[in-house]
Amino acid sequence: EAGALWGGRFADGPSPELARLSKSTQFDWQLAGYDLTGSRAHARALHRAGYLDDAELGGMIAAIDELQRRVDTGEFLPAASDEDVHSALERGLIEIAGAELGGKLRAGRSRNDQIATLIRMLLRDHSAVLAGLVVDLIDALAAQAEANADAIMPGRTHLQHAQPVLLAHHLLAHCWPLVRDLERLDDWRRRADASPYGSGALAGNTLGLDAALIADELGFAAVAPNSIDATASRDVVAEFAYVTAQLGIDLSRLAEEIIIWNTREFGFVTLDDSYSTGSSIMPQKKNPDIAELARGKSGRLIGNLTGLLATLKGLPLAYNRDLQEDKEPVFDSIDTLEVLLPAFTGMVATLRFHTDRMRELAPEGYSLATDVAEWLVKQHVPFRDAHEITGNLVSFAERRGIGLEAVDDVSLAQISPHLTPEVREVLTIEGSVASRDGIAGTAPVRVAAQRALLADRVRQV
Ligand code: ARG
Repeated sequence: EAGALWGGRFADGPSPELARLSKSTQFDWQLAGYDLTGSRAHARALHRAGYLDDAELGGMIAAIDELQRRVDTGEFLPAASDEDVHSALERGLIEIAGAELGGKLRAGRSRNDQIATLIRMLLRDHSAVLAGLVVDLIDALAAQAEANADAIMPGRTHLQHAQPVLLAHHLLAHCWPLVRDLERLDDWRRRADASPYGSGALAGNTLGLDAALIADELGFAAVAPNSIDATASRDVVAEFAYVTAQLGIDLSRLAEEIIIWNTREFGFVTLDDSYSTGSSIMPQKKNPDIAELARGKSGRLIGNLTGLLATLKGLPLAYNRDLQEDKEPVFDSIDTLEVLLPAFTGMVATLRFHTDRMRELAPEGYSLATDVAEWLVKQHVPFRDAHEITGNLVSFAERRGIGLEAVDDVSLAQISPHLTPEVREVLTIEGSVASRDGIAGTAPVRVAAQRALLADRVRQV
């Protein structure tokens, strides 16, 4: 009977329509293990406060352990009549321990403080799983940066050729946002580190239960300080959903580049066969589906976040049933990333970069013009003039359809007396890249140092 947790005041059980709407076991059953862990801690708090004697505590823990076993083996499952994971597990406990003992466990707690605690426990575990998967991706990108340490590619702004950069520098540029996501997860963990258990329905409990004992047993650093806030707020869940959405966006940006690099027009990469897909009609096709799914799923991750935020907006204190809607979006975000990240990392780890092709295109589009202007500055030409002179040089070369390095000495001198033949020293992509040797620059020495710095930062989180 679906009214099992609150039968006393009601003449009838819930209508079938209500029961169907109200039911959450199809998604909250994954909290069962956390619920039972919480119940053991709660039983010990009840014992300490004098509501269970030694024998009862022993019997209660044994019954919870047996229920855990049945849950783990699938022997015990939520029934059609169970509203949620909490009611199902109470039914299971009573089946094992009997109504007399089993009926004592619920004293001093509410599903409201339970659920707020359990979701934190689940998210905490998955934050560690996600962090591990993100580290794997960072490692794969850093390994590609190391394997292609000398490769030079066209650096772009506005998707137009801008200045040559090291491929390694570009790949590391995708690592740093992921490092910040790791740091965000870490930071999130600190805010999620308070236990709502003991807050009851909203106002606390009257039984003198030691919430600190429960918090400690459940691995929380502290007890949440306000019982209303503890049961009514889900910003901790929304923040987690934000980090997953940001991760999705960071993957999507790289995905978009891989898709472009993989086109015939670019020809910068080849995807490994085992990380690409074919077409059912076009025999020649080899598609970057992993990257496309990453790009697509980022929309879903954003949707989960915005949906949750919309649910939370305007909710009065304290608990409202709306809060049940926090679970499916964030569970979906976790599932999405835990499936996506391993595939994405495999794709990155097995990418083959066509560094000859990148090299060939790196000087195109007059991408060394800034180097000429800065060379002129080193000859003490004011930058404003240097910019103008270089612009004239580009325009001259463009009219003739040649590169800057191919402009002859006489023409150089005609464009500006400052343009002596020595300017050609900066007209190589190697020279250009090596000269950007300030902190954070693309010079090979800097990029090597950056790789070491990255490894340090990842180890710190
Ligand atoms: N299933 C609910 C949730 O996920 C917890 C139960 C609280 N229900 C209630 N009627 N107070 O938020």
